[in-house]
Amino acid sequence: MEEIRNIVILTGAGVSAESGIDTFRDAGGLWEQHRVEDVATPEAFARDPDLVLRFYDMRREAIQTKVPNPAHEALARLDAEWPGELLIVTQNVDDLHERAGAKRLIHMHGDHLNAWCTACDARMPWTGPLLDRPACPACGAGGTLRPDIVWFGEMPYRMDEIYHALTQADLFVSIGTSGAVYPAAGFVREARQSGARTLELNMEPSQGSYWFAEARHGPAGVLVPAWVEEVLGR
Ligand code: APR
Repeated sequence: MEEIRNIVILTGAGVSAESGIDTFRDAGGLWEQHRVEDVATPEAFARDPDLVLRFYDMRREAIQTKVPNPAHEALARLDAEWPGELLIVTQNVDDLHERAGAKRLIHMHGDHLNAWCTACDARMPWTGPLLDRPACPACGAGGTLRPDIVWFGEMPYRMDEIYHALTQADLFVSIGTSGAVYPAAGFVREARQSGARTLELNMEPSQGSYWFAEARHGPAGVLVPAWVEEVLGR
């Protein structure tokens, strides 16, 4: 791939599925177990904060028992060895990319292991529960900490950097995402408009499959290491 220098990789819940973290829209997925309107909107948090905090406390505890899988490890290797520009944009709020060693990484939907104070706007690493309303370590306010997660209707993080990288990309790769949620689902078209090659690696065709020049379907734990080998092997 002599002409490929700048790579942007979008990942979704499918990249963490083999680590035992439920996806959202697959059979038995999170949005079958919980109504989005009850746990993943600012309105839900205002209406029933206990329900929302309990949901994220449960998930925050669970992801700390999981470990990165071969897909995370392969992407961390690519990050370490790729001489050109590379950006991993994840929709995931788990920390498995980082634990595998990835550095050039943006969490566009937030981070489970962070809390956000709605009084002083501080964000801080957080591994314990929020349901018992701990005081904000930064300003001391009580009951003002919420999960640092981008809920439906809220603006994803670092969009300027992401769009800039998409305009510079020679290759855009989407891994383990259903293409159901914007703005992430629109990245493939942004990248295409800038002349990038496009590749989808997913268990099944995503809702945006049509926009990809190439698609490979199967488990990320198999597809991603093989693709990284290909990219680095050339
Ligand atoms: N390997 C590869 N792909 C997989 C695997 C796997 N082992 N398991 C599932 N998939 C694919 C599914 O086929 C599906 O297309 O991963 C995708 C998961 O889709 P979703 O559950 O919709 O998750 P995602 O696309 O990340 O959701 C986007 O929606 O709920 C919000 O904010 C949340 O970030 C999330 C966003």
